[in-house]
Amino acid sequence: MSLQITPVTPLIGAEVSGIDLARATSDDIGRIKSAFLDHLVLFFRDQDLSVEQHIEFGRNFGELHIHPAAADYHEHEDVPQEILKIHADENTKRTAGDKWHSDVSCAAEPPAASILKLEVLPDHGGDTLFSNMYAAYDALSEPMKLMLGKLTATHDGNYNYRDRGSKAGKDLSNMDYPVHSHPIVRTHPLTGRKSIYVNAAFTTHIDDIPEDEGRAILDFLFVHTAKASFQCRFNWEPNSIAFWDNRCSMHHAIWDYYPQVRSGKRVTIKGDKPY
Ligand code: SIN
Repeated sequence: MSLQITPVTPLIGAEVSGIDLARATSDDIGRIKSAFLDHLVLFFRDQDLSVEQHIEFGRNFGELHIHPAAADYHEHEDVPQEILKIHADENTKRTAGDKWHSDVSCAAEPPAASILKLEVLPDHGGDTLFSNMYAAYDALSEPMKLMLGKLTATHDGNYNYRDRGSKAGKDLSNMDYPVHSHPIVRTHPLTGRKSIYVNAAFTTHIDDIPEDEGRAILDFLFVHTAKASFQCRFNWEPNSIAFWDNRCSMHHAIWDYYPQVRSGKRVTIKGDKPY
């Protein structure tokens, strides 16, 4: 087999074919790392990885992250703590990721990347959208870039996880979700490129400016970052994998398939403090 990388759009996404991720060589991993930085999200088909192989594949890209709300997700089966179960069915009141977001951006050191493998898919729908936050930054005017470059914003895990958990009927009174401030414009530690780092699922307000000014800026950024021209869309099949960079992209898992089942597992790679 020879590894092939086929872009999905000029700005974001590439399908990687000709590889069995359970048997990836160090040369393959090197090419995947380089394509990942170029395309922000990579898609693989027909990867029948076991839980252990999924975890092993993730470890090629860094230490693995344990999700702060993992207990809320793991109601359906026992899985190792490195796995985050993604599951929706007829009893689901709110799915994970059905809003533009970057994974766990409320953490002090949010995850660098996520590797999601879906196993059960609805007959139709359940696609995931990905958006390029470098492109969203590059498209801003210079005065706007200058202003945003001076600002930080608060990302609050309660806003997202508490709402989702309580809709699932969980007692979350003892849960303590992360709340952290990050620069609105962050620099990717490997590419050195700047991107926008706010999202509708976690970012509650801009720090140290009047609330109404911050709200207007965030509302503008939420619309701007979700422009269709920055996006690609992935249509899953059983054993598809999406591997995305949380530092320079956002994603939105569309919940248009209720009451059908959509289910899989995510391995998440630790990241650094945004700067
Ligand atoms: C997530 O945000 O990890 C979920 C993405 C998806 O289900 O497509």
